[in-house]
Amino acid sequence: MNKDIAKVLLSEQEIDSIVTKIAADIDRDYAGSDKKLVLLCILKGSVVFMGDLMKKIKLPVEIEFMRVSSYGVSTASSGRINILLDLHRKDLSECDILVIEDIIDSGRTLSYLTEYLKLGGAHSVKTCTLLDKPSRREVDFTPDYIGAFIPDEFVVGYGLDYNEKYRALPYVGILAPEVYENR
Ligand code: IMP
Ligand code: MG
Repeated sequence: MNKDIAKVLLSEQEIDSIVTKIAADIDRDYAGSDKKLVLLCILKGSVVFMGDLMKKIKLPVEIEFMRVSSYGVSTASSGRINILLDLHRKDLSECDILVIEDIIDSGRTLSYLTEYLKLGGAHSVKTCTLLDKPSRREVDFTPDYIGAFIPDEFVVGYGLDYNEKYRALPYVGILAPEVYENR
């Protein structure tokens, strides 16, 4: 295990079962739609989850990417959302957008993006997150698909970073507090 990880929260095997379950739920829920199912990956943290999830969804999917600012260099949310990479599609009214997130903390990113995509004219907008920290919520927001609820700990791995590090770890782990306390 990486020396900076205090504890593994979700192992590779646990993540695999979670992703399999979410993919089956998505297949069931969108089976009757005649719109294009578009998985919208929120860069960068969701890229590993999205890659695994899209392979397990049996329905045809298209993929898109957006990047929004969330955290700077600290482990606390700034509360401000800036769009750094936007979605440019002319056929949003023909699309069922499923936003793919790595983790929900304050809820600000997903509540903002959901409104933004609806105002943009998407036929439907739903949200899917691998991890949810409900105790940290600052705005009232409930995602449609949730992989696992986790306690208020700063986690890394499986796409999630701390200062751009640890994204490639195959599991989700709690970052040892001394890593960010002693900076
Ligand atoms: P929210 O807008 O506060 O819900 O923030 C969601 C974003 O914050 C996620 O997409 C992550 O980029 C980041 N984030 C929140 N908690 C963590 C964590 O424990 N580890 C790494 N990134 C996190
Ligand atoms: Mg991040």
